Amino acid sequence: MSFPPRVKLVEVGPRDGLQNEKQPVPAAIKIELVHRLQAAGLKEIEVTSFVSPKWVPQMADNAEVMAGIQRLPGVRYSVLTPNLKGFEAALLTRPDEIVVFAAASEAFSQKNINCSIAESIERFAPVVAAARAAGIYVRGAMSCTVGCPYEGEVAPQRVDYLAGLMKSIGVQHVGVADTIGVGTPLKVQRAVEATLKHYDINDVSGHFHDTYGQALANTLMCLQMGVWQFDTSVAGLGGCPYAKGATGNVATEDVVYLLHGMDIDTGIDLSCSVPPTPVPARRCSTSAPVDGRRRVGSMAGRGTAGDAVLA
Ligand code: HMG
Ligand code: MG
Repeated sequence: MSFPPRVKLVEVGPRDGLQNEKQPVPAAIKIELVHRLQAAGLKEIEVTSFVSPKWVPQMADNAEVMAGIQRLPGVRYSVLTPNLKGFEAALLTRPDEIVVFAAASEAFSQKNINCSIAESIERFAPVVAAARAAGIYVRGAMSCTVGCPYEGEVAPQRVDYLAGLMKSIGVQHVGVADTIGVGTPLKVQRAVEATLKHYDINDVSGHFHDTYGQALANTLMCLQMGVWQFDTSVAGLGGCPYAKGATGNVATEDVVYLLHGMDIDTGIDLSCSVPPTPVPARRCSTSAPVDGRRRVGSMAGRGTAGDAVLA
């Protein structure tokens, strides 16, 4: 069996990880988190989202966070933009990449971005055109590609449809997301196969939440298919405010451990122990075991719960 020799990880902790936090996290702490992540060797960081502050108050400090980051050469910084208003605000902060985000399920599209799938594509089209004209790379996130919190199981045909729409408006890369972490390897395989009808393997990534502990298995399935790009979140932080029950993303350090154990290069130094990051501990729902031993911000393995507190 062959696997990609190298994997690219996009660290989504500052965005997906923190967007769901009820307690306000100060911009200075978010900036510090980004600094510690890049110090640990992460080269792709999803920093924030330019969404409505009424919908996601935690991301209201998007411009402040982007302005506060001391950028390192070789590190790319991405942001989410749901519409032209968000894109125009994001553009002022010089992102390297923007992310438009749609869903394979109609109900989730309505709950998350207040419009149908078709309407979301109409909204994204001018955003994609403007970004590409400005030389900004465009990634697309496809939510609920295996399951939806409102509609249940999602058929691969829905993913096929969405991936085709994303391609038609010029989205350069798409992420196959298991938003609520209900996927298992064969379901994820079918969602990725549907995506590959429209996108090259080099333009597809995996984005797995870990509600039932399936994210590593799903990652392994993708690796077997030749997928070599994944979104991960430090300490498994994460969750979408509009996807009830969804727990965190797969933990960056767990994926790095898996990959290095398979002799797959990530460019990340797992022995690099960055000081504990003062952000909330890994989120868990009742369906996921509480891992109080994980230390947020450490690439060196799991620490103590006391390290993971809000400053
Ligand atoms: P809407 O209410 O339909 O928007 O929200 P609207 O166009 O009718 O505007 C209403 C008000 O919002 C207006 O202000 C606009 O100016 C303002 P008012 O006149 O009432 O004062 N507004 C904005 N303000 C700031 N930035 C903007 C913006 N747009 C409008 N960009 C909208 C539509 C899409 C804006 C809203 O539904 C929204 O912001 N949704 C975002 C939800 C979200 O962020 N979800 C989490 C990210 S997705 C995710 O986590 C999944 C992912 O991880 C993959 C996976 O796991 O599945 C990526
Ligand atoms: Mg997500």
